[in-house]
Amino acid sequence: MKVTISVIKADIGGYVGHSSTHPEVVAKVEEYAKAGVEKGTLLDASVITCGDDIAIVMTHTKGKDNEEIHKLAWDAFVAGTEVAKKLKLYGAGQDLLADAFSGNVKGMGPGVAEMEIEERKSEPFIVYFADKTSPSAWNLALYEMFADPMNTAGLVIDPSMHDGFTFEVMDVYSGKAVKLETPRELYDLLVFIGATSRYVVRAVYRNRDGEIAAVASTQKLSLMAGRYVGKDDPVLIVRCQSGFPAVGEALEPFARPWLVEGWMRGSHTGPLMPVSFKEAKPTRFDGPPRVIAAGYQLCEGKLVGPNDLFDDPAFDDARNRCALLANQLRRQGIFEPHRLPPEEMEYTTLPKVLEKLKDRFVDIGEPEAKAPGSGEGEIHE
Ligand code: F6R
Ligand code: MG
Ligand code: MG
Repeated sequence: MKVTISVIKADIGGYVGHSSTHPEVVAKVEEYAKAGVEKGTLLDASVITCGDDIAIVMTHTKGKDNEEIHKLAWDAFVAGTEVAKKLKLYGAGQDLLADAFSGNVKGMGPGVAEMEIEERKSEPFIVYFADKTSPSAWNLALYEMFADPMNTAGLVIDPSMHDGFTFEVMDVYSGKAVKLETPRELYDLLVFIGATSRYVVRAVYRNRDGEIAAVASTQKLSLMAGRYVGKDDPVLIVRCQSGFPAVGEALEPFARPWLVEGWMRGSHTGPLMPVSFKEAKPTRFDGPPRVIAAGYQLCEGKLVGPNDLFDDPAFDDARNRCALLANQLRRQGIFEPHRLPPEEMEYTTLPKVLEKLKDRFVDIGEPEAKAPGSGEGEIHE
């Protein structure tokens, strides 16, 4: 049976500040998701949260980019926003950038990750959900899951994975994407996905048969809105087992924390902390960034789950190391590299401060040079 898994997420109000969601708002979103199942639009739905973001995990038979499915999620978020407004929650409706729904939530604020699959004899998959970071936070994890045999033993041992995987990589500024096949083009892939401020892995396919293996939300909210409206707090769907990474191989990259962009005011580098659902409430300096892993088994399109996969003491060491990294980085305060470089700060509230000081810069006879990076990163022309 062909099933589409659609995960659509948004931040529609924080409790308190940007740290978490309010149970009444989540209950309202759940009510809409449940109604979608009762009406028969959806096969099943599951609502999960991470920090101040809510995701609706939906299964159905209508394919990707389906108007009815996207509208259902949009309506749920609009209704949730009304509750958030009533409670005067912080940033109520902040990710709903458009006034009215028009065909597809893409470009309207919410993040989307969707895949259409033929349900296997047993179909385990994981929905990763992060708060206080951007879609490129998945780049390193996806590389390790699907291209690094030091992480994923199956790339060496399992004949159905041995041909490797192909990564689709998007340039968030041009909106163009390139497909690169590993292991053959591994080094080309790393040129791009190591540059996390610009390139984002959108999807991963199995080389042997072209099967979809993973899909991420790649929307860059600040580019859509033209101003800082929160980092994009991405979702990622990864299929597991029997020719895909084992659940444990898909979780393993998170046991060795790395640094991502986001955290306070979307302006800082910080460790991505793998946490249980209960611990997905970033409060220290509005962080550090969190990730949860919601595991499901598909059963005739029904969602058996979620199972809280980072709720395992084996990840305690990663969490402790994130706390230590957080201490070390906080020592740098507003100084780079804890604070992000100027190119990234362009999409925060900082340009408003710089605007005021622009005319105070005077020529002192030094030659002019282009700012490094994009060439458009000059902050005081
Ligand atoms: C980061 C985030 C928070 C806010 C910060 C300031 O993604 O959402 O760190 O940027 O709390 O928020 P405002 O400007 O709304 O007071
Ligand atoms: Mg927020
Ligand atoms: Mg958030």
